[in-house]
Amino acid sequence: MRNEQVPDRNIAMELVRTTEAAALAAARWVGRGDKNSADGAAVAAMRSMLDTVDMDGLIVIGEGVKDEAPMLYNGEHVGNGSGAQMDVAVDPLEGTRLTAEGRPGAVSVIAAAPRGTLFNPLDVFYMEKIAVGPAARGCIDLAAPISWNIEQVARAKGINKEEVTVIILDRDRNTGVADQVRAAGARIKFITDGDQPAAVSAAIEGTGVDMLLGIGGSTEGVVSACALKCVEGDFQGRLWARDDEQVRYAAEHGLSLTNILTIDDLVKSDDVFFAASGVTTGDLLKGVEYVAGGARSESLVMRARSGTIRRITTEHHWRKLQGITGDRYAP
Ligand code: FBP
Repeated sequence: MRNEQVPDRNIAMELVRTTEAAALAAARWVGRGDKNSADGAAVAAMRSMLDTVDMDGLIVIGEGVKDEAPMLYNGEHVGNGSGAQMDVAVDPLEGTRLTAEGRPGAVSVIAAAPRGTLFNPLDVFYMEKIAVGPAARGCIDLAAPISWNIEQVARAKGINKEEVTVIILDRDRNTGVADQVRAAGARIKFITDGDQPAAVSAAIEGTGVDMLLGIGGSTEGVVSACALKCVEGDFQGRLWARDDEQVRYAAEHGLSLTNILTIDDLVKSDDVFFAASGVTTGDLLKGVEYVAGGARSESLVMRARSGTIRRITTEHHWRKLQGITGDRYAP
């Protein structure tokens, strides 16, 4: 009999069709200065494809509450309802501003894990983060000084601390982190947005980045933890309140602003699936490229239990797709 709690196959292979669809839709808005339309197009495209996925999915990290988000809202059921019961985290367009301004590094992302295993930060919007790759797994501690963590990563990777590159979201709230990284002698790569793919790039060889530090979105933190489980990297987070209202909200909802959340607190399962497709070309993925009669996309497809990491380049043919889906892919 089929075990409805654990997927019996790699559903990331199906989930990638949702991120491809979202990336293709968002790519139409690159550089057009309209981040809401870019996001809306990605959400609608991902939503329409999700119902083909063989799972009984529940959005736990989505676009917000039902009244404000007509699609992919928290609590919405997605998938065709026939497979395993899964928690689903979506970020149909991670890097709305990057897309609107035609900057590198925008991606579409989805992650899934068995029901009840994904941490839900509710409306505590920010999280302090540290992310590293497999070499430094088990060597990090968000409670320890930044200089200690940099030394740990340097030792684990067999390089000098001056050769460590830390990727940081460029925000005023991260100035102190950047100062400490500089004081430790390490190098910095600043990004204007998109700390979720940045966390993954910190865990993948060849990206030129060794670790991610700083405060970014909490939902992006949970999705990053899913991806880092798949590559056997490491991640720790701590919820961060930007004002007194957020402090009150966290207290009312039993969310600690002091506890360190390990990768296993954020994703309490090894049955994790992750897919991401590039919208604009960045460190991790190529963006959507147009060719005569179609487009080409690049995606990362990962499953934690098997450890399989796939990079998929897909050719999309407008005429044929329109024959199947109507106007969905109309240029
Ligand atoms: P969106 O594309 O959803 O706007 O997120 C972009 C992003 O830069 C995330 O990567 C990051 O975690 C978060 O925003 C940071 O939030 P803020 O822009 O409020 O500092």
